[in-house]
Amino acid sequence: MDFVLDHPLVRSLTPFLVVTDANRPGVNTAPFGLQVQGANVIDPNRMQNEPFCALLQNLDARTFGPEGMPMDRWVFYDCCFMPGAIFGFGRPVADVPAATRAILGVPDDYTGVVPYSMYIAIPMAEPGSWMGHNLASIAPMLPHENLKGLGTLTKSIALRAFGMTHFYGATQWDSSALHVHVKFGPLELVTAYTPAHSESKTLTYAFDVTDDALRGAMGAPDVSFDRPQAEIWIHPEDTASMVGLQSRIESGERFVIPYAPREDGAVPVALRRLE
Ligand SMILES: CC(C)(COP(=O)(O)OP(=O)(O)OC[C@H]1O[C@@H](n2cnc3c(N)ncnc32)[C@H](O)[C@@H]1OP(=O)(O)O)[C@@H](O)C(=O)NCCC(=O)NCCS
Repeated sequence: MDFVLDHPLVRSLTPFLVVTDANRPGVNTAPFGLQVQGANVIDPNRMQNEPFCALLQNLDARTFGPEGMPMDRWVFYDCCFMPGAIFGFGRPVADVPAATRAILGVPDDYTGVVPYSMYIAIPMAEPGSWMGHNLASIAPMLPHENLKGLGTLTKSIALRAFGMTHFYGATQWDSSALHVHVKFGPLELVTAYTPAHSESKTLTYAFDVTDDALRGAMGAPDVSFDRPQAEIWIHPEDTASMVGLQSRIESGERFVIPYAPREDGAVPVALRRLE
């Protein structure tokens, strides 16, 4: 059995895609052979799909709300539904425990799939490149449902579904999501200090979307990454070091984040200068 199709979360959860009819030809509805059923390929522009879109917004609010960056519905529309696509996993509502329905704000009369995770990305003007917009997983709030690995799995399969060759993402230096992102291999640092973002202490990173990167992130036993030893460590509050690093990037130097931040939180983010 294929590694992806045999993944315990793939076997127990239901995949969904949110894409307009116009964008649908650009999206793979069977990434890694995982067929998304027709009823779960959702056109956000159809009125009947408003309850599902509302649940995506609830998922965003439960996960990004505490981070201070929940999306307004118009942001979903302008930045996700119309230009991009969303891939995620959920469960049919009949299989969702009452406690989970309460956390996700599922209406009593709802029928259909309840989204537990989503990955949103937007195609860029640079051909083949997409910008990751949002990764949300409710798994940490549902320990009783045993969903460890859901965030990483969702991002991996989404990147394949969207058919990109190069990926960009932005995250804050202190974000726990860095633990997910480095699972795709060393990350090239595109910006280290980002005043164009509403949170300047944001870093932008990139990597090539290869089969190995995606399967390796999901834990495929036949994939391993070459992760160079770090030589620089950046504390998430150390603005001066971020600005210094950004100046070096703007002067042409290149850096990667080779592996996950240290768990002790003392000097969390590792970097290595590329020759
Ligand atoms: C970040 C998020 C997507 C992780 O979802 P998840 O389903 O727990 O993801 P995974 O189970 O795949 O976890 C991947 C790794 O991250 C680690 N991780 C997750 N949360 C962590 C935390 N708070 N602190 C340290 N490590 C953490 C996990 O331990 C795991 O590493 P391991 O396999 O080496 O143990 C989820 O917590 C979330 O939605 N957070 C709020 C929104 C957000 O910050 N999104 C990302 C913005 S760029």
